[in-house]
Amino acid sequence: MGHRLFRAALAAGGLLAVAGATLVGCDTTPPAPTDPQAALVAKGRRLFFEETFGGNGRTCGTCHPAENNLTIDARFIATLPPTDPLFVAEFVPALARNFENPRLMREFGLIQENLDGFDDLANRFVMRGVPHTLGLRLSIASPQGPRTGWSGDGAPGDGSLRSFATGAVIQHFTKTLERVAGVDFRLPTPDELDALEAFQLSLGRQQELRLPLPLKGTVATRGQAIFLDNRLGKCNFCHENAGANANFGAGSIGNQNFDTGVENLPDHPARLTGQKVPADDGLGIPGDKTFNTPPLVEAADTPPFFHNNAVATIEAAVAFYNGDSFNNSPAGRVLAGATGSGIKLDATQVQAVASFLRVINALENIRQATELLQTARKAGGGREPGSPLRQAIAETGQAARVLVEADLHPAAVAHLERARAAARRALHGWVARDKRLDDAVAALAAARGELVQ
Ligand code: HEC
Ligand code: HEC
Repeated sequence: MGHRLFRAALAAGGLLAVAGATLVGCDTTPPAPTDPQAALVAKGRRLFFEETFGGNGRTCGTCHPAENNLTIDARFIATLPPTDPLFVAEFVPALARNFENPRLMREFGLIQENLDGFDDLANRFVMRGVPHTLGLRLSIASPQGPRTGWSGDGAPGDGSLRSFATGAVIQHFTKTLERVAGVDFRLPTPDELDALEAFQLSLGRQQELRLPLPLKGTVATRGQAIFLDNRLGKCNFCHENAGANANFGAGSIGNQNFDTGVENLPDHPARLTGQKVPADDGLGIPGDKTFNTPPLVEAADTPPFFHNNAVATIEAAVAFYNGDSFNNSPAGRVLAGATGSGIKLDATQVQAVASFLRVINALENIRQATELLQTARKAGGGREPGSPLRQAIAETGQAARVLVEADLHPAAVAHLERARAAARRALHGWVARDKRLDDAVAALAAARGELVQ
């Protein structure tokens, strides 16, 4: 206690001494890490969020921003200024055509990609949502090699995270449609690719859940049972433990591709606009119409859903599996053959499965926020954008939101709001920072205690 008061007094004294500098937004940057792996991750983080590779001004963080779960959606895009490099197609004449579709970007968060090569830009492209890059350590390994991107194609190259970063620079960072390395952008060096990979692998979960969890919510508990029931929800075959790996009964077979019929959905929002949205043929050239299974723990707070952002809510994403598009798809028919029927959940069951996905997402947010607050307590300082404390506040807000949206666990939401308020006071206040961080961690633990035993 005395120790804490002493630190608070020091902090207050420090404030007086540096008040001038503090007012102009000066911040203590954390000391460079001494552990080589931590240093590599820190270098990768800097490259990911700051390096433009001599291109059009975009960084990886332009589309994978830390404060929005490393993904973008229409709601986030609407908060950006018109000069944001995401919008280069709107203000760089050389990129005005055949680079992005600004309308589909702003309305549905869709990004243009030339997965089958750059030879016919006007016709050979697909429109895809931006996946978060969380939990990658658990979601891209398959016996056939790494599976990155919505179709697992990689971008191009061997499908590893290293080659994906190079592909992203060529696709998204170019100054002109010529895409000449050394002129329109520079390629990442091998050292930079190592750092980017290490950073990306450090993001989010490093471990699978072990289902079933001892959940407390009545509806979420039922949703978990349906999810795991191989005769009812059948979700666990492809999304084992709500992750990205398949297990048909003989052990995990890693991250797999399936044609689940998402491309066949009627009234796909982007197509309703009348804009050109070519069919997305999935893995390979020409494609085999399969897409890669994404993890579900991180799904509920990263809408919209599926490779083409076809639906906006997690409830609709669950309901997808009841429809003809899924049940008549190649994967749907194989599943029906193996289990005796397709997937057919009624409204209460859809709600239950979605509630389960919301609760496990909130638990993951709480886990991350707690870790980030502990880092912030050790490191001190940290008011800069993307700092652990700021990210902890964002994660806590997302945990609350993902529950509130479906009226789940109001008592947990109240604890989360207290946690957020305490963390914000630690961010903006000058005294008792450690105490406020401890209060925030305690409130997160209380929120968790409402969700799970
Ligand atoms: C203009 C937006 C944009 C930028 C900039 C961008 N990405 Fe992406 N990212 C996407 C889209 C869209 C996808 C989906 C691609 C696909 O399905 O092939 C994606 C997919 C990914 C994936 C695959 C994730 C998974 O679960 O398989 C990784 C990894 C990734 N990006 C890393 C990066 C890196 C590293 C950079 C910077 C060098 C970067 N991205 C820059 C839009 C972007
Ligand atoms: C045959 C394998 C398979 C089964 C069974 C399956 N999924 Fe999927 N799931 C996938 C694939 C593949 C995708 C990606 C499809 C795409 O984007 O085109 C996906 C995507 C999703 C998404 C969107 C995630 C995102 O981030 O966009 C959700 C949510 C989802 N599945 C939930 C479920 C639920 C709930 C069940 C059970 C009712 C289920 N899945 C059963 C393979 C499967």
